[in-house]
Amino acid sequence: MRIAMIGGGYVGLVSGACFAEFGTEVAIVETHPGRLAALREGRIPIYEPGLDKLVSDNVSAGRLTFGDDIAAAVKGAEAIFIAVGTPTRRGDGHADLEYVYAAAKQIAEAMTEYAVVVTKSTVPVGTGREVARIIRETRPDLDFDIASNPEFLREGNAIGDFMKPDRVIIGIDDDAKEAGGRAREIMKRLYRPLYLIEAPIVFAGLESAELIKYAANAFLAMKVTFANEMADLCEQTGADIHDIARGMGLDGRIGRKFLHPGPGFGGSCFPKDTLALVAIAKDAGAPTRLIEATVQINDARKIKMADRVIAAVGGDITGKTVGVLGLTFKPETDDMREASSLPILNRLAEAGAHIRAFDPAGMENAKTLLPSDIIYCADALDAATGADVLLVLTEWNEFRAISPAKLKTLMIGDAIVDLRNIYDPAAMRAEGFRYSSVGRS
Ligand SMILES: NC(=O)c1ccc[n+]([C@@H]2O[C@H](COP(=O)([O-])OP(=O)(O)OC[C@H]3O[C@@H](n4cnc5c(N)ncnc54)[C@H](O)[C@@H]3O)[C@@H](O)[C@H]2O)c1
Repeated sequence: MRIAMIGGGYVGLVSGACFAEFGTEVAIVETHPGRLAALREGRIPIYEPGLDKLVSDNVSAGRLTFGDDIAAAVKGAEAIFIAVGTPTRRGDGHADLEYVYAAAKQIAEAMTEYAVVVTKSTVPVGTGREVARIIRETRPDLDFDIASNPEFLREGNAIGDFMKPDRVIIGIDDDAKEAGGRAREIMKRLYRPLYLIEAPIVFAGLESAELIKYAANAFLAMKVTFANEMADLCEQTGADIHDIARGMGLDGRIGRKFLHPGPGFGGSCFPKDTLALVAIAKDAGAPTRLIEATVQINDARKIKMADRVIAAVGGDITGKTVGVLGLTFKPETDDMREASSLPILNRLAEAGAHIRAFDPAGMENAKTLLPSDIIYCADALDAATGADVLLVLTEWNEFRAISPAKLKTLMIGDAIVDLRNIYDPAAMRAEGFRYSSVGRS
């Protein structure tokens, strides 16, 4: 079996490499010259644990190829995946579908035989039908079907999530000829290795598959935001958010995941997908007030977290040094898209702070997004050196092992603001720190 994957970013590269590992021949089309050059030279342009080996194994086995020639990639492909970006459109919160529609047109121009065209990008309800319309308009002669196969992988654990998913969602246009039978058969064959491990594979209509992805992400974003509000309440009442999360999460109807408090959600998916769902729902005349509130609470939280750092140094941070541990939106990724560190550090820099930051994987990406006078450090201890306040923004494991006594010798101030709760409050206080964390009194 052979497939084409349009877009070699996080999703295209991981899912393409995983399909290749399943035994499928995968041709990835990538138009970004830097990304393509890196892939062709055997370098992985993103940080994702295990991906370098998976890619090199499958390239060596001849199952995975990279190029910018879409015609060559779609030749003989039974399925053509669209895995391009769908960022937030400026001004109105909608997903920007420019890249998806451009890919649809290119696919139509390049196709020579039947294939099922599958949207893997996160796309608003109705996009699959619009992709079909574009293909029909561009090439009325073509025989094709359309499907939606949203991706649920988490950066940092992407290969595991793809290989052992909680579920696979496949949306098929049941109004299509033969009730989408051919598309269904191809998708089943492609996912056969996951049938064998009894992963739930859920077939739905096109619109449902498109909406499932947004509903799932928005629900998780709302759950995190709920935990953050409970953390605020804990701080005012003497309760401990970790006890609350455990006590709530052991209820099987609630579940323990995504109840960890922090500086507000970020990343390449939740912020843009919540905004897009709000826009989709408003347009459809069925507003999602819970998600509207989630977006507002989360945006405001990041400002509040910056103000907490300013308060920790007495209310005026001008000329003070902030040592920052972690910049990426979560550990085990180099992705800086919509990371909470961006609004927090921008606000601190505006307020006159000197910032010394370290992140194990995200600093190259951060440099293009953060104020230019931030100093990027060699390691965590370097970032803490001379700091008036230490700010923990990402819970990389290597930060957990740092000893409070060591920090005491390096820092000039005594304030720690730990927005990921990675340190033990008692140990920090015993060392003489004024330690503030989230949702713990
Ligand atoms: N990153 C995640 O964790 C994640 C998880 C699930 C779903 N998604 C969704 O998957 C989609 C892709 O996300 P991503 O993080 O991989 O984005 P990305 O920006 O990392 O990758 C997209 C890639 O597509 C390439 N591209 C764009 N147009 C192209 C074209 N016409 N031909 C060939 N290549 C083209 C770009 O150069 C880029 O490298 C988005 O809709 C996103 O919401 C992302």
